[in-house]
Amino acid sequence: MTTVLSARTFPPGFAWGVSVGAHQTEGGNVASDWWHRENEPGTSVAERCGDAVDSYHRWREDFDLAAGAGFTDYRFGIERSRIEPADGFVSLAALDHYRRMVEGAVERGLRPTVTLHHFTVPLWFAAGGGWTGRNATERFLRYIDALQPVLDAGVERIMTINEPNILAVFPKLTASGQLASGLPEPDAGLTGILIDVHRAAVARIRERHPRIPVGWGVSVQDYRAAPGAETARDAYAESRDAVFLRASAGDDFVGVQAYTGGVVGVDGEPVLVGDVPRTLTGWEFLPDALGGAVRRVSRLLPGVPIVVTENGVAVSEDRRRIQYTTGALASLRRAMDDGADVRGYFHWSLLDNWEWGHWEPTFGLVSVDRATFERTPKPSLAWLGSLAPPAVPIDS
Ligand code: BGC
Repeated sequence: MTTVLSARTFPPGFAWGVSVGAHQTEGGNVASDWWHRENEPGTSVAERCGDAVDSYHRWREDFDLAAGAGFTDYRFGIERSRIEPADGFVSLAALDHYRRMVEGAVERGLRPTVTLHHFTVPLWFAAGGGWTGRNATERFLRYIDALQPVLDAGVERIMTINEPNILAVFPKLTASGQLASGLPEPDAGLTGILIDVHRAAVARIRERHPRIPVGWGVSVQDYRAAPGAETARDAYAESRDAVFLRASAGDDFVGVQAYTGGVVGVDGEPVLVGDVPRTLTGWEFLPDALGGAVRRVSRLLPGVPIVVTENGVAVSEDRRRIQYTTGALASLRRAMDDGADVRGYFHWSLLDNWEWGHWEPTFGLVSVDRATFERTPKPSLAWLGSLAPPAVPIDS
């Protein structure tokens, strides 16, 4: 059955957002570990992030584009290396910047979702061992405490850590200098640490900001089982996402970040597929992956509302983005019809931005001229914005 999408496909009040990350869009995050990495001699980072797309200065334009297209929600990151560029120093100017962003979103009718940690950390924190270093959790809680004026300025939803399961793969990825296709197994030690950090962060946020819903966003692929391989598939998914999803039990929501998927065979290994359509990141072009990922999360984590905090596709032709997103949203609607409790959808991404070492994979609803930073909406921006469900009336 074909689903015809409209502004009535999803229920009133369903969050309709776009998603961006701080480091990938802001530019000039000179105090971060990734800035250091891209500038060190013999770097394995293929292309510099540099000025990114200058959203640190152009966030108003970005918000205007999203609000103007009809979106109701906006997810952006707070860059910790700007808040704490040196150990023990909190930049009041940076706090003020992010406070103005939160207020600027609210003024435009956009509900701000903020990410506290999206892959980058301050260089001083990385040099001290990063998440495996001494007092890492206490230092993260100290950062959360410092964010009080930002969080209390009107934040709608907080995500502690973006894709902890990808973060826990980083030691393997950075050793080879690239994102391999397929997903290596997350580091077990880091997995435990990140879960503990998240639980401590949720507790701290609930104590200080009891009004603001909190959760995290897990990368979830639609892992399907080859005939008879259900147990092998579940074992494959266990360390790659299930352990992180179960750690969301008791949270106000779980963020699902889904792009693609794959089949796991009886031997517990991914089944190699040959000649299938692929995106600019090399991933299989699989619109239905969103519905499949959401169904699996809903089974694993009953009782925790789901928010799709990332879904999108890196393609050069915008009509392929619309085609992909149409399929993704239809699969999401079907998963909801079958009982998944989904509260919102955020598209990755508003802007073409820096894809962790590469500029070629374009995920944006808006393209950006890398010399002038001029933003040019693609047809998909107005198309997706027009599907925004109506807001819930205040007295409902
Ligand atoms: C990340 C983003 C990334 C996107 C597309 C997610 O893994 O949160 O930073 O750009 O997927 O690869």
